[in-house]
Amino acid sequence: MNPAKRSLLLLAALALPAWADRLPIPADAPPAFQTECGGCHLPFPPALLTAPDWKRVMGKLDKHYGDNASLDEKTRRELEDFLVRNASTRSRMAGEGDPPRLTASAWFRREHRKVPQALWRDARVNSASNCSACHSRAGQGSYRGREIALPELRDKH
Ligand code: HEC
Ligand code: HEC
Repeated sequence: MNPAKRSLLLLAALALPAWADRLPIPADAPPAFQTECGGCHLPFPPALLTAPDWKRVMGKLDKHYGDNASLDEKTRRELEDFLVRNASTRSRMAGEGDPPRLTASAWFRREHRKVPQALWRDARVNSASNCSACHSRAGQGSYRGREIALPELRDKH
């Protein structure tokens, strides 16, 4: 293998862990993303669903997982464009459900395979979508193992 190709491969390998534990909100996020999509829960990283998934989420905000998250059409469109622009193209990021859940993707289930089932319903957690219950710096887009908040999970990975 020539040196240029080898250093490229090395770079790709180094980039992987960084991708897995850092999911910052993309810089092109309109201010409405934080205010309108971060009021009831964490503003979820757009890279955790695919473009068709985000279109389905944004196409029925009045029936939003049992809640009503309706927006005026201009804001709705602006946020949909942002989410679609930054969506994942990987099939393992495809959500499931109607509207689709990112906590049901093959990727999410694999990353969380070591979390005991009972813990998802623990009073401190309540729902898999409650990222910050376990990831103490989820609000800053950081998901490193050493930042896990629940003591019983901290030494399991
Ligand atoms: C009025 C409150 C409210 C607002 C505003 C809101 N959501 Fe939600 N959202 C919810 C609730 C409630 C759930 C379900 C939580 C659960 O079951 O764990 C949810 C779940 C989700 C999920 C699925 C999470 C999972 O379980 O995988 C996505 C994706 C999502 N919201 C995206 C958005 C986006 C994008 C916006 C902004 C356009 C938004 N939400 C605004 C209340 C809201
Ligand atoms: C019940 C606790 C819990 C909840 C809730 C939870 N996670 Fe996790 N998550 C973990 C644990 C524990 C790990 C580490 C798994 C391992 O390394 O074996 C993990 C791993 C991850 C990783 C991989 C980190 C790395 O170092 O590669 C990401 C990214 C992640 N979670 C994102 C999320 C997101 C986004 C949410 C919310 C939608 C969420 N998690 C909800 C417990 C949780």
